[in-house]
Parts: sequence; C-alpha cells; structure tokens
Amino acid sequence: MKQEFKENLLSPLPVVLVGAMVKDRPNYLVIGYISPFNFGKHIFFSLYKKRYTRIGIHEKKTFSVNVPSEDLLAETNICGSKSGRDFDKSSLFDTFYGELKTAPMIRQCPINMECEATEILDYDPNEGIIGRVVKSYADPQCLTDGKLDWRKVHPIIWATGGDFNYYRLGERISQEEGKTES
Ligand SMILES: Cc1cc2nc3c(=O)[nH]c(=O)nc-3n(C[C@H](O)[C@H](O)[C@H](O)COP(=O)(O)O)c2cc1C
Repeated sequence: MKQEFKENLLSPLPVVLVGAMVKDRPNYLVIGYISPFNFGKHIFFSLYKKRYTRIGIHEKKTFSVNVPSEDLLAETNICGSKSGRDFDKSSLFDTFYGELKTAPMIRQCPINMECEATEILDYDPNEGIIGRVVKSYADPQCLTDGKLDWRKVHPIIWATGGDFNYYRLGERISQEEGKTES
C-alpha cells in the first residue's frame, strides 16, 4: 500500500530569486514554486498576493529570474525571510539590466533571465505569474564547450512536499546530448 499525501510531491526544484523594480528600487524574493513551460519559452511561478515584489511586477509587467549558487545561501535566506517593505534587499547584490531595462538582475547569480509578464492568473490568495523569457545570461565559468553545465552552477535545490530542506545537485547520470526541440 502506498502512503497517501494531500500535498504536492513534485520536487525537488531549484530555488530562484525573482527580481522586480518596486518604487524605483530592485527587490528580490525567493520563489520555490516555479517551472519553465511552452518548451522553455515561458516561465510560470506562484506569487502570494501580499508579497512586496508583486507591486513591481504588476506595475512594470517585467521581472527577472536569477539562479543563486550555494555560496549565496546567506543572501538567499534573507531574500526568503525579509520583505522589501521593511528591508532594502537591493543592497545585497550588484544589479544589472538587459533589454527590458526594468527587470533587475543579480550579477552574483550565475544564471539570469529577463522576462516580460504576459499573463497573471488569480488563484487567491496567490497569483500565477506567466512570463515570456526575453533573454537569458550565464557566467562563462559555468559553461563547458560553450554550453551551460549545471555541475558548475551549484544551484540550491529545494524539496517541497513536507521536507522543505535544501539539497545539492547530484552527479550527471546520462551522456546524451540534451534535445529539447518540439
Ligand atoms: C524556500 C522558499 C520558497 C519560497 N517560495 C515562494 C513562492 O513560491 N511564492 C511566494 O510568494 N513566496 C515564496 N517564498 C516566500 C518569499 O520569498 C518571502 O516571503 C519573501 O520575504 C517575500 O519578499 P517581498 O515581500 O520583498 O516580496 C519562499 C520562501 C522560501 C524560503
């Protein structure tokens, strides 16, 4: 007999720092419930309505997705526990901008994506934010032969479904060339 659970067990997922401009200042929060879809052209995540970051996403219709590495664990913990309402999180990182100009990205994170919010779904008390990926950026030291190599990124992996701890990415177990086209 299988043990039954009420909650989601699709896990683990890399934690990300979602960035937006709120009141002319970059603000970042930790998002764990996030996924690429539409063959990676879009990103979907869950945002609680009372998050301070939500103000900027609604106003500018842009946001960034930044993948922190393990060495940013302390800063990640701050972004996931303090609200921009009470604490200026822009000072934690160096910010850069890409094409969109209003999607602040974190220079210290090895991977960044700038996104245009294309749809916001009401799932009270949360929202589902859908964004089109406009451009992605990766640190050159995370590449092997010009391709992104996740073994060099050292992402922080988050387990949902009752565990709620952070993990490291394990070893690569396939040698296949990744094929993602439809
Ligand atoms: C591991 C982890 C995952 C989280 N995932 C989400 C999430 O998916 N959606 C969300 O709205 N908040 C999530 N949070 C909570 C926010 O990051 C946190 O409340 C943050 O302080 C909000 O910042 P803000 O008010 O400046 O936007 C998560 C926090 C942690 C630590």
